[in-house]
Amino acid sequence: AAGAVLPLGLTLSLCCLQLRCTGSSSFPKGCYPEEEEGMKTFRCSHARLTEVPRDIPNDTNKLYLDSNRIPFLPRDAFRDLPVLLELDLSHNAITGVESGAFRGLAEHLRSLDLSSNRLVSVSKDAFSNLKAKVNLSDNPWLCDCRLQELIRSVELAAGSSASLVCGSSAQEEHVGKAFLQVMADTDLCNGYKKTTDVAMLVTMFGWFAMVISYLVYYVRQNQEDARRHLEYLKSLPSKQRRSEESSTISTVV
Ligand SMILES: *[C@@H]1O[C@H](CO)[C@@H](O)[C@H](O)[C@H]1NC(C)=O
Ligand SMILES: *[C@@H]1O[C@H](CO)[C@@H](O)[C@H](O)[C@H]1NC(C)=O
Repeated sequence: AAGAVLPLGLTLSLCCLQLRCTGSSSFPKGCYPEEEEGMKTFRCSHARLTEVPRDIPNDTNKLYLDSNRIPFLPRDAFRDLPVLLELDLSHNAITGVESGAFRGLAEHLRSLDLSSNRLVSVSKDAFSNLKAKVNLSDNPWLCDCRLQELIRSVELAAGSSASLVCGSSAQEEHVGKAFLQVMADTDLCNGYKKTTDVAMLVTMFGWFAMVISYLVYYVRQNQEDARRHLEYLKSLPSKQRRSEESSTISTVV
């Protein structure tokens, strides 16, 4: 094995020397080109990058920027890459994606990996017109209307949706659940309408209850009155009789 490692190391260092001498080491630090099944690949994995490097060869088909420390994707982060097909940005520290970040890639990009980052909330405008299959899993997503709009406007990479999980939510019961499951049960963009509907229902029910209780009270009161009236009526004939008696007595007298 040592015999194999030595020539490899020699070739590598020779390569580096050659690159440095010919001046084509204009590649960003930690990045190197590769040919992979006829695809021009550019690898910057594990390169401690803190931003998307400039000077990526414009004929790159596959770009690996995974396992770096990129915190943010600004507008036009990937311009001048007219034949880029696959972009791997997984395992970074991305918290924000500015709208227009993927501008210029819309027509040709077919795969975009943003998994294992720190994405909480991204506007769907950031992905506008993108036809790529997107992997958004393993991010601390805030499950709200904005995420619902985003998910509805992108095509998720096959099999990546199970680990697209709510990191936080206004509804405690959604935390830790797969977002597609939450979306199937709840329309997160109609939350406001729903609460107003509920408020209206409660108010209507309140009014209804008041009317009913008033009716019940009214009927009871009337029953009491009626009973009293009936008792009065019952007591009347005897009184009348008595008065009649007294009158007859008086007339007799
Ligand atoms: C890359 O840039 C060079 C020089 O600007 C240009 O001639 C070439 O056509 C570009 N390649 C692609 C694939 O756009
Ligand atoms: C999406 O990303 C996760 C986490 O990095 C990975 O395990 C999974 O294989 C990816 N899925 C696809 C379809 O790329």
